[in-house]
Amino acid sequence: MVKAKTWILKKHFDGFPKESNFELKEEVLPELQDGDVLVEAVYLSLDPYMKSLSKMWIKEGDVQYGTQLAKVVKSKDPAFPEGCYVVANCGWRTHSVITAKGPARPIMTRIVSEWPSDISMSLALGSLGMPGLTGLYGLEEVCKIQSGETILVSAAAGAVGAMVGQICKIKGCKVVGSAGGDDKVAYLKELGFDQAFNYKTVPSLEEALKNASPEGYDCYFESVGGPFFTAALKNMKPGGRIAVCGAIATYNDTTPQMCPYPHHEIITRQLKIEGFMVSSWQHKDEESVKRMLKWMKEGKLKAKEVVTVGFENMPAVFIRMLKGDGLGKAIVKV
Ligand SMILES: NC(=O)c1ccc[n+]([C@@H]2O[C@H](COP(=O)([O-])OP(=O)(O)OC[C@H]3O[C@@H](n4cnc5c(N)ncnc54)[C@H](OP(=O)(O)O)[C@@H]3O)[C@@H](O)[C@H]2O)c1
Repeated sequence: MVKAKTWILKKHFDGFPKESNFELKEEVLPELQDGDVLVEAVYLSLDPYMKSLSKMWIKEGDVQYGTQLAKVVKSKDPAFPEGCYVVANCGWRTHSVITAKGPARPIMTRIVSEWPSDISMSLALGSLGMPGLTGLYGLEEVCKIQSGETILVSAAAGAVGAMVGQICKIKGCKVVGSAGGDDKVAYLKELGFDQAFNYKTVPSLEEALKNASPEGYDCYFESVGGPFFTAALKNMKPGGRIAVCGAIATYNDTTPQMCPYPHHEIITRQLKIEGFMVSSWQHKDEESVKRMLKWMKEGKLKAKEVVTVGFENMPAVFIRMLKGDGLGKAIVKV
């Protein structure tokens, strides 16, 4: 008999999440049937979408959704033999039986066989997983960046933003990043960003953006929304492209923020603005991860993680991640 620990969403979020929104429970897992797999979580990822999509995706009492790097510990499915590692969207659980049948089967992908032994598998949840792929697809598929262009990145020290900046440099672009701390700004410079500033301490966002690139921006990789978006619009070059990846500055609002209507800037600068979801290019994930692994082995990509040990810390780490505390991808090691 295998017992799993799970975190359930006890009460939907009202504004900024609190630890009391969650409850730790224990569950006895069923015996495996043909085609089933038992996985044990090794690392769990904490991401902003756990807040932004919550009311759409789950109801109170459900296990909190999320992705984990897990080891297959028992298997009745030859495609997932015992001992292999998978990325699976099982939610906040220490153990899961992934059933062969049924529409609710979680997505489970084996990590690429070429995974080098000197690169932590936790990166399959960060730079070499969903957040890294988000950065890659936003640049290649949405912005279609070209060498020599100037790219602006907000939330640049986050899991997605740090990858965006580094990929821009690999592709021969100039890149400007904003982050909410002087330590984060120093980190962006270490990663090779041409310019970086602390959006919390500059006297004027619009001026800071102008000073960092007086000639304007060809592309903006947008992750925050709110007043930063308004200031960015005013600094776009004519015909500029904006990939709308996220709006983290608005996720915890209880009443919507009011910003100036953006139409004038969009029309007069003839901007192209496109929202996207990383899942649209899932068919390219395997090839893309191999490409990013190669860049990492060549020293062109660096990754930082904040790894907290203990499954019981999931809600606390989630809240710290949303506040922007800590420098690096938020991970819990069971
Ligand atoms: N479209 C997609 O498919 C997709 C996929 C993955 C992620 N996303 C989005 O991409 C964005 C970044 O995600 P991530 O995984 O990189 O998250 P992350 O590693 O947790 O970084 C998020 C960063 O956002 C910043 N932030 C928090 N509150 C903010 C605020 N009020 N104003 C400005 N910045 C704030 C914080 O850094 P500072 O200290 O710098 O403020 C925080 O470190 C999010 O909006 C997320 O929803 C979208």
